[in-house]
Amino acid sequence: SFFAPIQDAAPPSPTKRHTIKISIIGTGNVGMAIAQTILTQDLADELTLVDALPDKLRGEMLDLQHAAAFLPRTTISASTDFSATAASDLCIVTAGARQNPGESRLNLLHRNVNLFRKIIPPLVEYSPDAILLIVSNPVDILTYVAWKLSGFPSNRVIGSGTNLDSSRFRFLIADHLDVNAQDVQAYIIGEHGDSSVALWSSISIGGVPILSFLEKRQIPYEKATLENIHKEVINCAYEVIKLKGYTSWAIGYSVANLARSILRDQRRIHPVSVLAKGFHDIDGGDVFLSLPAQLGRGGLLGVINVPITDEEAERLRESAKTILEVQAQLGV
Ligand code: 2OP
Repeated sequence: SFFAPIQDAAPPSPTKRHTIKISIIGTGNVGMAIAQTILTQDLADELTLVDALPDKLRGEMLDLQHAAAFLPRTTISASTDFSATAASDLCIVTAGARQNPGESRLNLLHRNVNLFRKIIPPLVEYSPDAILLIVSNPVDILTYVAWKLSGFPSNRVIGSGTNLDSSRFRFLIADHLDVNAQDVQAYIIGEHGDSSVALWSSISIGGVPILSFLEKRQIPYEKATLENIHKEVINCAYEVIKLKGYTSWAIGYSVANLARSILRDQRRIHPVSVLAKGFHDIDGGDVFLSLPAQLGRGGLLGVINVPITDEEAERLRESAKTILEVQAQLGV
């Protein structure tokens, strides 16, 4: 051996330290952005990549492994076979068709539901205790599909949802007011997509509600300006897709941020897609939509009962209705 033996070394402890294993299904631009952010942030001991394309998969694995000298130590493996994901703590699903320029997220549904029938059952078989984090679009409906196909309790099936839209929102507000986005508390909830809902009523900057902040700085409050910021949040994914073909870096950071809260039991609040039935009078069936939720090692720990206006609640229920109508045709 390379090392000289240590005299009187104690035998290895019988209680093995639990290692954290993350599997990422789908090694497209989104899966790889998530993988690289997870590696740089030291969130896993083992990272397993799964994809249907063996050459692309092996190429991505080798390319990441070659960064080992610059990264915290993580064992990286890759396989086209789901058995490689066995005993994962967290399975992140990014596989699926992505939007063409101008195409809506909902339009991807049928292609991606068929794919999920091949992905979710083996993931569950090999990691019955895992938390599933769904990223593929349309994320809210696919999170529902994953929940149904998995048979998992709903606290262990979470969609990345509007955590990303909320980051875009915070960035745009911060940019508008020349403050740090991390000091902006603001939620976009509901569908990750065209019918998302901006919670103007609960925005604060450094703990100060936005409306009084604007008044103090003598910036006139213009509803139109605020509404334009929300429109920009909805449009900006389309813009990025038109310009570079796909979105990747922001979703990579957004999902790594969720992985940290879950695996390191941070108990932070994130707007993510959860079983939303019963909140804000959402009824009519099982529907996943983003609500501000607390995440920790057990997955979803709770949903905050954030005060929302009647108009915001009405929009949320409209979104739920649209999604339920689409879901009714799936036969999952
Ligand atoms: C995004 O919002 C396309 O859903 C993806 O970046």
